[in-house]
Amino acid sequence: TLAVTGSFAQNYPDNKPITIVVPFAAGGPTDKVARDFAEALRKQLGNTPIVIENVGGAGGTLGASKVAKAAPDGYTLLLHHIGMATSPGLYRNLQYKTLDDFEYLGLINEVPMTLIGKPSLAAGNYADLVKWISANKGTVNLGNAGLGSASHLCGLLYQSTLKVDMTTVPYKGTGPAMTDLIGGQIDIMCDQTTNTTGQIEGGKVKAYAVTTPKRLPGKLAQLPTLDESGMKGFNVSIWHGLYAPKGTPKPVLDKLNAALKVALKDADFDKRQEALGAVVVTDARVNPAEHKKWVEAEIGKWGPVIKAAGQYAD
Ligand code: MLT
Repeated sequence: TLAVTGSFAQNYPDNKPITIVVPFAAGGPTDKVARDFAEALRKQLGNTPIVIENVGGAGGTLGASKVAKAAPDGYTLLLHHIGMATSPGLYRNLQYKTLDDFEYLGLINEVPMTLIGKPSLAAGNYADLVKWISANKGTVNLGNAGLGSASHLCGLLYQSTLKVDMTTVPYKGTGPAMTDLIGGQIDIMCDQTTNTTGQIEGGKVKAYAVTTPKRLPGKLAQLPTLDESGMKGFNVSIWHGLYAPKGTPKPVLDKLNAALKVALKDADFDKRQEALGAVVVTDARVNPAEHKKWVEAEIGKWGPVIKAAGQYAD
């Protein structure tokens, strides 16, 4: 088998298509990162075709469990985000063990989030939004991509910091949720700049604040941070990483990690990420060991927050 693995790994990816599973619906922020990243990664893998497969549902855990169970041959990968660290606390019978069932290939980027509203929302700035929320207590609809999504985590933190309960409306991704927000079916959402920058610039949604400790550079610089708006210490950034099923041969993992590192320096990729407010990772977390350590630390960080919020799914 060593010989087989050896020759197989040597020629990997052998011009065979690689599938990257995105655990959310097409058109959302995770999907956008994955398609841009796949374009850069492909160039480093002999231009082998890379197919994006959107497997939405259950806050990203359906897609993640599909990859955990996939053949460990390097032809099925997972591009996922902070949900890898929040789902263990949210799902009582998660279909995979986050730290045991995946090979960690490296962190890709970090993405700020923005608090946005439907175009007809009668609030022109963050202070007015808070007044509107308290005036509409109990009837505010907040969209997210299900328990375990980044929009869920941000919404959870926002509600518990504001001490207001909202009705959450889950979607298979914030791509479809954005459509309903623009249509006025839901009132507000906390979503990543990769999905909201274009809509904010296009005047399709109202923008109120950003979730990072510092204001964003460029086009969204006029948005206050939640921290400066009274939510001291509010700090949420969404990281994305690449994963393979446990047991994928080491030479394949090494090839994928080497390709990831070069792809992260791809000029087109970096330009697109910057235009969408994302920051490409340049530190040691692009290495498998540090990527895994990072996720382990994030599980430790978000676990108590989620426990305190008392939300879970069976
Ligand atoms: C999330 O909220 O986790 C993401 O926005 C979902 C998505 O990428 O659609």
